[in-house]
Amino acid sequence: MRSRTKLYAALTVAIAACGFFTLASVQATEEGEKTEQKAVEQEQQVLHAYGDSLVVAQEPVEEMFSHKSHVINYEFSCDTCHPDIFEKKRGAAEAKGDYTMASFEEGMYCGACHDGSTAFSTTEPDSCVTCHNNDMVAPETVVFTKPVKAVIFEHKEHVEMGLECSSCHSEVFEMRVGAAEEKPEEFTMQALYDGKYCGSCHNGDDAFASDTMCNSCHIGVKGYERLHGEGEKTKEAH
Ligand code: HEC
Ligand code: HEC
Ligand code: HEC
Ligand code: HEC
Ligand code: HEC
Ligand code: HEC
Repeated sequence: MRSRTKLYAALTVAIAACGFFTLASVQATEEGEKTEQKAVEQEQQVLHAYGDSLVVAQEPVEEMFSHKSHVINYEFSCDTCHPDIFEKKRGAAEAKGDYTMASFEEGMYCGACHDGSTAFSTTEPDSCVTCHNNDMVAPETVVFTKPVKAVIFEHKEHVEMGLECSSCHSEVFEMRVGAAEEKPEEFTMQALYDGKYCGSCHNGDDAFASDTMCNSCHIGVKGYERLHGEGEKTKEAH
């Protein structure tokens, strides 16, 4: 415990020196350490004040969202967001299952401000890149070549049949072509039969089952060559 106390003391100095957030997440693992840790935390909690904003040592929340810029550059006090818009708990919004673009558009979470008047909106095509670091344009067709060549996934058709982006992203699939194929030992028919990846819908209830109609997904090497011959708008992983 002495070293932990020392660590806190050192951090306080470091934080006071920088003026704002830095990492001070020390997790107690043993029951006995918890009470002492609480006392230490209470003692160390308020490290700096910006108007009515009391700054607490903490990790940066998410790369996409910066506490530093919202609190310091844009001068929002903590209670602008906490606890009405966001809980003070990383991952709390995500755990609720409605932390999606659709709910932002209705004014929840980031959308409470990112509505085109308080701050740039979440619906303007030009703004996607500011948060996502990516223009977020879904490729019409994704072609998987690992572990077998070749399986076709039509973004366009799946979206046009009425599925929300959030029905796949990011729980079923990462929003990055090639992510699933980085684990060819996991991205298999067995996984699909177990309800993962495409199998979360292609289970015979929500969409045709994965153990039928092999050829509708598997276009094979010939299909792959034909597709590339036609020069369609596709994206594939390497
Ligand atoms: C513009 C909105 C906004 C403001 C202002 C804001 N926060 Fe947050 N805060 C968030 C978001 C978003 C999260 C992550 C919540 C989630 O993941 O559900 C968060 C999470 C936290 C967490 C949990 C961190 C963790 O690792 O679990 C703490 C502590 C916190 N904020 C403290 C503060 C303090 C102190 C202030 C004022 C200095 C502040 N916040 C101001 C948006 C804000
Ligand atoms: C203010 C920041 C912000 C802007 C601007 C923004 N997004 Fe998002 N987006 C988010 C956050 C936060 C999430 C939730 C991430 C998570 O689940 O951890 C998200 C998730 C998503 C998702 C996955 C799940 C869902 O909600 O459907 C898609 C797709 C998406 N954004 C597309 C877009 C597109 C397209 C644009 C531009 C028109 C855009 N985003 C602009 C912050 C933003
Ligand atoms: C209390 C209002 C508020 C909330 C809530 C909020 N923002 Fe912001 N955000 C702003 C303002 C104001 C700006 C300054 C840009 C502008 O004026 O359009 C900004 C700027 C940004 C920027 C630009 C780069 C930067 O950091 O300066 C990003 C990225 C961003 N917000 C992401 C998010 C995400 C992601 C969420 C949700 C987790 C969120 N914001 C929630 C008000 C808010
Ligand atoms: C039925 C499932 C599904 C739906 C719905 C869906 N996607 Fe995807 N998306 C995928 C798959 C599969 C990939 C490829 C993932 C991989 O290779 O691991 C992907 C990849 C992406 C990528 C990565 C592109 C790249 O170049 O890396 C983006 C961006 C994307 N989707 C955006 C969207 C948007 C925006 C929506 C809603 C309009 C959406 N997706 C709806 C399944 C879906
Ligand atoms: C969120 C649910 C969902 C996920 C995940 C999903 N699909 Fe689908 N898919 C559907 C639905 C719904 C249909 C239309 C109903 C039907 O044909 O049974 C469909 C139809 C299809 C079709 C026939 C229509 C067409 O596009 O030509 C193919 C092929 C297909 N999906 C492939 C895939 C592949 C490959 C994956 C995984 C990379 C996947 N799907 C993931 C819901 C999903
Ligand atoms: C809903 C779409 C879909 C259907 C239907 C489907 N597959 Fe697959 N299959 C995939 C995906 C996605 C992969 C992984 C990506 C890759 O290998 O390119 C895959 C991979 C495979 C693999 C290599 C990995 C492994 O499990 O050994 C074989 C073999 C395979 N499929 C056989 C079949 C057969 C046989 C059928 C019909 C009984 C079938 N698939 C039906 C989507 C489908």
